[in-house]
Amino acid sequence: NKVPEVRIYEVGPRDGLQNESKFVPTDIKIELIHKLAAAGINNIESASFVSPKWVKQMSDGAEVMNNLKRSPGVNYPVLIPNLKGYEAAKKCNIEEIAIFPAGSEGFSQKNLNCSVEEGLKRFKVVADQAVQDGIRVRGYVSCVLGCPYDGSISPKAIAKITEELFAMGCYEVSLGDTIGVGTAGSVRRLMQEVLAVTTPDKLALHFHDTYGQGLSNLVAGLEFGIKTVDSSISGLGGCPYARGASGNLATEDLVYFLYGLGVNTNVDLVQLVEAGRYISNFLAKPTESKVNRALGDR
Ligand code: HMG
Ligand code: MG
Repeated sequence: NKVPEVRIYEVGPRDGLQNESKFVPTDIKIELIHKLAAAGINNIESASFVSPKWVKQMSDGAEVMNNLKRSPGVNYPVLIPNLKGYEAAKKCNIEEIAIFPAGSEGFSQKNLNCSVEEGLKRFKVVADQAVQDGIRVRGYVSCVLGCPYDGSISPKAIAKITEELFAMGCYEVSLGDTIGVGTAGSVRRLMQEVLAVTTPDKLALHFHDTYGQGLSNLVAGLEFGIKTVDSSISGLGGCPYARGASGNLATEDLVYFLYGLGVNTNVDLVQLVEAGRYISNFLAKPTESKVNRALGDR
């Protein structure tokens, strides 16, 4: 059996923190990013350039990006909703952006204040500019396995949006189970449709662990040849516009799981656990990562 190779895409400093009501000071955000890089994580989504009227927690994106010490070989993408955010991010010398159309009408309205189609049009303007500027573009599709407003979602509709994101120049599309309602069965049905329009090496999976299905959903994805997985330190995360969403699949749990499969992630689990403790302690709440709990208590 060939051992799978997996690329970890950490979303803690962005998805992980965006849902926290207490403002996390910029220097704490930066220190978290430094600790993740020191642990060996080399893709760290570090900030958003969304409207501060919508997500106040992420309003210091420029300060974060201008003041963090970038390690060679580490990718620090940022989340971009529109041209205004793109222009602000570009001034911070970013190398990669992520755009995020919704997979459902209800969530598009709540999260982006426009329809899915209008969102795609707006993101195309951003992607065109980024491609012209030589900045990498990653695409997310959210609510791929269910929407808090519209309920179940057709895998064909998700495949169509995925195709549009690639046509815009995205190098990768991350399929997001924003509210964590998916199961291994629904992941399989989604994979079958999406893999009709692309190949597994160009996809990532982004699981929120609301129903505790994150790792089993991942096994279903790996069986289709998925090579990139999004996760969040300490299992933080959630979207303020996705009612009932809990944190992402925890990075500590993901790394432990991959060790078990014999995948060399080059991540130091001890340092990763320390990074998780750092941010959980700051937020004054217990870690959502079972691996962190198990190792941290020793
Ligand atoms: P809108 O209110 O329709 O936009 O929001 P607007 O253009 O009317 O702007 C409203 C105000 O915000 C204006 O200020 C703009 O200048 C300002 P005013 O004139 O009233 O003083 N503004 C900005 N300021 C700074 N940077 C910007 C920016 N844009 C506008 N970029 C908009 C539309 C898209 C802006 C808004 O809906 C928004 O910011 N949405 C983002 C919400 C968000 O961040 N959600 C969480 C991330 S998505 C997620 O977590 C899912 C994911 O993890 C995948 C998964 O889990 O599946 C990715
Ligand atoms: Mg998310």
